[in-house]
Amino acid sequence: MDSTLNSDIQYLDRSKTSARPRSVVFANSKGGVGKSTLALMAGLGLATQHPNTRVELIDLDVQKTTSDSLQRFANHRFSVLENDDFFLNSGSPNNGSLINHMGSDFPYSHTEKFIVFDSPAGNEPSRSTFLTHCNVVFVPTSVGDADVFATRKYLAELETLFGKHKTNLEGPPPPVVLLPNMVDSRDEFNELRNAFSEHSVYFGKPLYYSPVFRRAFRADEKDTSVGKLLRHARPYISWLTQLIKHSDTLPQPPTKLFQL
Ligand SMILES: Nc1ncnc2c1ncn2[C@@H]1O[C@H](COP(=O)(O)OP(=O)(O)OP(=O)(O)O)[C@@H](O)[C@H]1O
Ligand SMILES: [Mg+2]
Repeated sequence: MDSTLNSDIQYLDRSKTSARPRSVVFANSKGGVGKSTLALMAGLGLATQHPNTRVELIDLDVQKTTSDSLQRFANHRFSVLENDDFFLNSGSPNNGSLINHMGSDFPYSHTEKFIVFDSPAGNEPSRSTFLTHCNVVFVPTSVGDADVFATRKYLAELETLFGKHKTNLEGPPPPVVLLPNMVDSRDEFNELRNAFSEHSVYFGKPLYYSPVFRRAFRADEKDTSVGKLLRHARPYISWLTQLIKHSDTLPQPPTKLFQL
């Protein structure tokens, strides 16, 4: 009798784990580094390249530019969630409500559910404790000196946040993956990697500069621009979405910059 009971308990536990959505966030206090573009690529990429996934995109910008634009792609596998409870009156994220939402069980255990957050510039990690509950924190950066400088500061603030909240969490803090964006050449990519060599984070593959990304949010007839973008960036999107799906298998937190 005991063995039947035990196997039932194990079965229930497993189904509960698989039903919890995986949450990823694109964040950097610096503006214009590609957070929204990459959140779009991750969200639409998961929904289009991976069967049996359901994706919920949450735009944490009160101006809702991303959600307004992506609402037109909504279907049974991709949704853009708008909820005023996700914001405080100040416009900062309502951490309690977000954490609650991220932890809610998902009834369809045969599909994998993903939550992709696009966060606006200027959001300070100290006021974004929901970040500690994400499965991956992606930090896009581009190559300009001002971007590098601001991104370094942001990484240091994230480290402080994770240091402070570590004891309240069940597991280790989420992996932080820097995403070099708008890169012009391999040399520039190497230069950027050197600039972050002392940071204990993962370093993603480069996303090269291309005008197709400039039209990511254009709602043209038959969505030609978005279609072009998804085709052009297919290898990059595959890499990014596989990383999201399998972030649990990343090696232990790196002691210095770790090239993925
Ligand atoms: N790889 C790329 N090549 C060319 N242009 C890009 C690339 N990535 C992003 N862009 C362009 O850079 C600009 C800023 O990108 P995006 O809006 O995604 O940044 P953001 O970090 O979300 O900005 P904000 O902080 O204002 O929300 C946009 O015009 C976008 O089209
Ligand atoms: Mg944005």
